[in-house]
Amino acid sequence: MLRRLHPDQPESFAFTPANQEWAQGQISKYPEGRQASAIIPLLWRAQEQEGWLSRPAIEQVADMLAMPYIRALEVATFYFMFQLQPVGSLAHVQVCGTTSCMICGAEDLIAVCREKIAPKAHQLSDDGRFSWEEVECLGACANAPMVQIGKDYYEDLTSEKFAEILDELAAGRVPMPGPQNGRFSSEPAEEQTSLAGKKTEKHNASIALALDLGDTIKRIDGTEVPILTPWLGEKAKGRARDTEPSKKKEPKPANGLPVDETGTTVQEAPAKERGKPKTEPAAPPVEAPGTPPPTLEGPRKGKADDLKQIKGIGPKLEELLNGMGFFHHDQIAAWSEDEIAWVDVQLEGFKGRPTRDDWVGQASKLAEQSGSGKGKAAKD
Ligand code: FES
Repeated sequence: MLRRLHPDQPESFAFTPANQEWAQGQISKYPEGRQASAIIPLLWRAQEQEGWLSRPAIEQVADMLAMPYIRALEVATFYFMFQLQPVGSLAHVQVCGTTSCMICGAEDLIAVCREKIAPKAHQLSDDGRFSWEEVECLGACANAPMVQIGKDYYEDLTSEKFAEILDELAAGRVPMPGPQNGRFSSEPAEEQTSLAGKKTEKHNASIALALDLGDTIKRIDGTEVPILTPWLGEKAKGRARDTEPSKKKEPKPANGLPVDETGTTVQEAPAKERGKPKTEPAAPPVEAPGTPPPTLEGPRKGKADDLKQIKGIGPKLEELLNGMGFFHHDQIAAWSEDEIAWVDVQLEGFKGRPTRDDWVGQASKLAEQSGSGKGKAAKD
């Protein structure tokens, strides 16, 4: 299946403050220089927040991890668990279509999806609240056929029961997940011959937790940290709700790590160096090539251009460029090859971007459109 980014993309993406803090916590789990390892949890969190992964979300995550965009895009487009197109604002239904479920009636469930949601998988329903897809085995084969909605499994389904569940959701209620035929969990549907003692609980643990939460299909906004990361224990509760910037623990991001032409960051380099004797003297520092271009103390008339209009420049790069004294399209449009070489070295973790994305060409067009023109930077 060809997996491409959706043609309609939002302007931007930002984690909620709580999710941002959660993401920084994930990044800090990895040793300095290996922050790219957090790519999957961060992409997943972005999807949990928005329902799907947009290009701005993928690029924002790449920026946070100082990764070339293509590396993050490779991950997002490889794994089917990442939704690359908008999903239902209320629920995205995943119908298991693998052997056990197929034998037990998955096709009937898919027929319900076609009738009640949309004729094709990954299409939104008319009201935009539902979408569906067929997925591979979800590991609940003893309770086939089944579907996953949000984080919950609805098992032992019939087409009638499944249709009822969708109606309940559409009406704003959250139906009880788990087996829908009266089973406690995955015990034999008829006579139970082992572990047949009297159960004291009304529901199995998964359903009990879902019922405790009350709304298991809502988007993840970060306040669920204690539930989603139980290994953090009770301490996480306070931390999750404490989003005051002054109290935030500084993350250890990999921002600023050098990347070579192939997109390999220094975090991957030591493996090639293992054979070298430990006593080998360090190489002398390489002098930065090129010439520094003219810079400004601050934006003209206090208003900087939106450098993010240049493809390949995200919020992080814009911040970096502003910090170096570049605020306007015409400044970038005026860079010579020698100056690009100098800027390239300063960009470290984003090395190669100015040439790869033709910043000068893009900036020239933007400067012409705004009437600021090439060469203005020289006068400044
Ligand atoms: S075959 Fe459907 S859950 Fe395994």
